[in-house]
Amino acid sequence: MTSRKQLLDTLNPHKARLDLKPMRQLFAEDPDRFERFSVRAGDLLLDYSKNRIDAGAMAALFALARQAGVEERRAAMVAGDHINTTEDRAVGHMALRHQGDRPVRIDGNNVMAEVRGVLARMAGFADAIRAGDVRGATGGRFTDIVNIGIGGSDLGPAMVMLALEPYRRTDLRAHYVSNVDGAHITDTLKGLNPATTLFIVASKTFTTDETMTNAATARAWIAEELGEGAVTAHFAALSTNLGACAQFGIAADRIFGFWDWVGGRYSVWSAIGLSLAIVLGFDVFDAVLKGAYEMDQHFVTAPLEANVPVIMALLGVWYRNAFGFSTHAVLPYDQRLSRFAAYLQQQDMESNGKSVTLSGAAVDYPTGPIIWGEPGTNGQHAFYQLIHQGTDVIPVDFLVAARPHEILPPHHDKLVANVLAQAEALMRGKSETEVVAELTAQGLDPARIKALVPHKLFPGNRPSNVLMYPKLTPERLGSLIALYEQKVFVQGAIWDINSYDQWGVELGKQLAKALLPKVEGHAPAEGHDSSTLGLLRAYLAQKD
Ligand code: F6P
Repeated sequence: MTSRKQLLDTLNPHKARLDLKPMRQLFAEDPDRFERFSVRAGDLLLDYSKNRIDAGAMAALFALARQAGVEERRAAMVAGDHINTTEDRAVGHMALRHQGDRPVRIDGNNVMAEVRGVLARMAGFADAIRAGDVRGATGGRFTDIVNIGIGGSDLGPAMVMLALEPYRRTDLRAHYVSNVDGAHITDTLKGLNPATTLFIVASKTFTTDETMTNAATARAWIAEELGEGAVTAHFAALSTNLGACAQFGIAADRIFGFWDWVGGRYSVWSAIGLSLAIVLGFDVFDAVLKGAYEMDQHFVTAPLEANVPVIMALLGVWYRNAFGFSTHAVLPYDQRLSRFAAYLQQQDMESNGKSVTLSGAAVDYPTGPIIWGEPGTNGQHAFYQLIHQGTDVIPVDFLVAARPHEILPPHHDKLVANVLAQAEALMRGKSETEVVAELTAQGLDPARIKALVPHKLFPGNRPSNVLMYPKLTPERLGSLIALYEQKVFVQGAIWDINSYDQWGVELGKQLAKALLPKVEGHAPAEGHDSSTLGLLRAYLAQKD
């Protein structure tokens, strides 16, 4: 049987060929390169022509996907098989946004009635808050919704809330508290009126220490400000652990459940989206689900050669495995996607940051890259220097809407000119001849030109994708998120890893639990390495 490493090695001759031909030359030789290497999913356009690829490399990548069994694994996910083998669970987040009457079976049961039941309860609760029918204990209309959660119970809704600001009702505000650092909840509560504040405790497990600590602080704040009896009116919970929610004191009709087949980082489509349904409106949240469903349909039906998530995944594999590039930047030219890269960091790095295969063998090839990014144009004035002239090559995804929400010329045209310019600059670079011509035209003497040339050269040949969508609507945002989810799925399938567990977060949690009594000064400072003990003693000597 061909090993994964052998499959990935089939890319090497293609890389060797393309090493001899920079993208500038590929563009010069093929006037149809954009048409050849761009693809659409509905009204979302992916231009991937500015990558170090040719038809032969793409054919090799599609063959790799087929040989690695991407289509079979996709079918297994859709069928509800337990593809999350280490946790023995199905991977069912697509059911959460499923539209239409076709049943979706997980463990033999059609889950759609349950999924839609929770969505209907979320809609009812959100509408009642927006209408002022559900109010605080003292009769005040809710104005501030504080979501307390972390990881997938925070990043998804927090990112979407920022992205869809134009859809927010201006008399409702959402806040997201995640960090166990007391500064986070303190700064959030500052200025909030307890009488008009609703807390949503969002936690799949309802055991996550950060969330439980913040929830307890919020509970104490309400009890102190409004009395213990007010707590029920000011709390709701989102979880798979319904018993623990009840134990916390949350009323049964304020508990919104989901299921163990929804991974935390894939849960924005579930009850975890309640803050969005309240502050943006359920119709907006529902439109996000519909957009994601459209992308799912594209992903499961389009041939690999025309499949946007598959192509993006394969390009990622190309750079990670054939070229050895270790990071990937996501740079939205869309200010409202300011937390998109942070969201994708969990989605991608918690999913594919793995170094053993499904059968537990050590991988002998690189897996998930480091994901990072900030919105353009801000990044241009911060870290783009390294992307253009640094010693690492960083493949980039640029995201941009054709139409802004604001009619504010000349802002959007300038934004678009910048994203097109950056992609062009990365691809073409600036040659020695061009630099010399430019400096000569500026009237510099030959000695100065000679000294400056090496500093002003741009190597170019640096890859980027451009994703262009008509407007950042709820539907398109849903499609974009689902696109990246499916990209991560395809890469996980190719690397033969389990993208749906996250054992790597456990050790730190265990050690923190063991250290807490020592940090609190209730247990002797012993049983650790000299560094940990040194730091612990330094802390104990300084703590108040
Ligand atoms: O970081 C580990 C993790 O389990 C994530 O996968 C999850 O999104 C996050 O913690 C929060 O977990 P919970 O929703 O159970 O509080």
